[in-house]
Amino acid sequence: MKKVTKAVFPVAGLGSRFLPATKASPKEMMPIVDKPLIQYAVEEAVAAGMTDLVFITGRSKRAIEDHFDKAYELETELEMRGKADLLKIVRDTVPSHVNCIYIRQPEALGLGHAVLCAESVVGDEPFAVLLADDLLDSLGESPVMRQMSEVYNYHRCSVLGVMNVPREQTRQYGIVSTERDNGEVQRVSGIVEKPKPEEAPSTQAVIGRYILTGRIFEHLRELTPGAGGELQLTDAIASLLREEAVLAYQFRGVRYDCGSKLGYLRATVELGLKHPEVGAEFAAFLASRV
Ligand code: UTP
Repeated sequence: MKKVTKAVFPVAGLGSRFLPATKASPKEMMPIVDKPLIQYAVEEAVAAGMTDLVFITGRSKRAIEDHFDKAYELETELEMRGKADLLKIVRDTVPSHVNCIYIRQPEALGLGHAVLCAESVVGDEPFAVLLADDLLDSLGESPVMRQMSEVYNYHRCSVLGVMNVPREQTRQYGIVSTERDNGEVQRVSGIVEKPKPEEAPSTQAVIGRYILTGRIFEHLRELTPGAGGELQLTDAIASLLREEAVLAYQFRGVRYDCGSKLGYLRATVELGLKHPEVGAEFAAFLASRV
């Protein structure tokens, strides 16, 4: 039985909500406490058994390549200074059995287009897509992509990570309708990108975690611009639905929308509080502020 081993990380968006921080470096390199967003997502994928990591990069791609590459000068410097603990952190950004592949998205035409750029590497295999600006804390449960891989291994069809959102926020998400309206795993009957609250078919929003079958590429190739003038992954999934089953999975954990300032700050506070080195002092600081 073929397992999902390829993970695609679209990191070519403009990140305009975080300008000027994202002027010369991708938003996925912004840190939560001491680790960039992209590394949280990579660790989640590796924990789910992914061994080929495909980064779809855009402007200023160097930072991400450098982050997962060997840092000879820094390693030599740390070695000379006897900083074994820091050396380990620097060397452990990605395990040695994992292969990193970089593909350039020439223009930020939308998430659907970014995923299509991975076709030559992925072929017709099932693969995962992780949007690193959605940071998922599984709260001690197994990492969310691993939960989704288990759903895929059982059902053998595409799986979308979903969560319930307040109705007034449906415009920020792809929203699914399902055959039943409860249960952890449900069959998707429709999906629409950024519907108005009064038009949304439900309040189940797709977050940045997907497992897709290779058939999606056929549908991505036929995309025309959708919401916001972008080539939308959601529209390709809507089209895929007409030929294959797609499941919505209510993941166990908490999601922080680190593509927005407020979500980013929330993640910083929550993960700061849990941080082994600074958590206790940070908690005392916060208590003194409220
Ligand atoms: P967003 O919708 O958050 O857009 O993309 P963005 O450009 O990154 O940020 P804002 O809205 O301008 O602040 C969702 C994900 O899809 C990727 C982004 O990098 C992000 O991970 N993406 C989006 C691409 O890789 N290419 C695109 O053309 C668009």
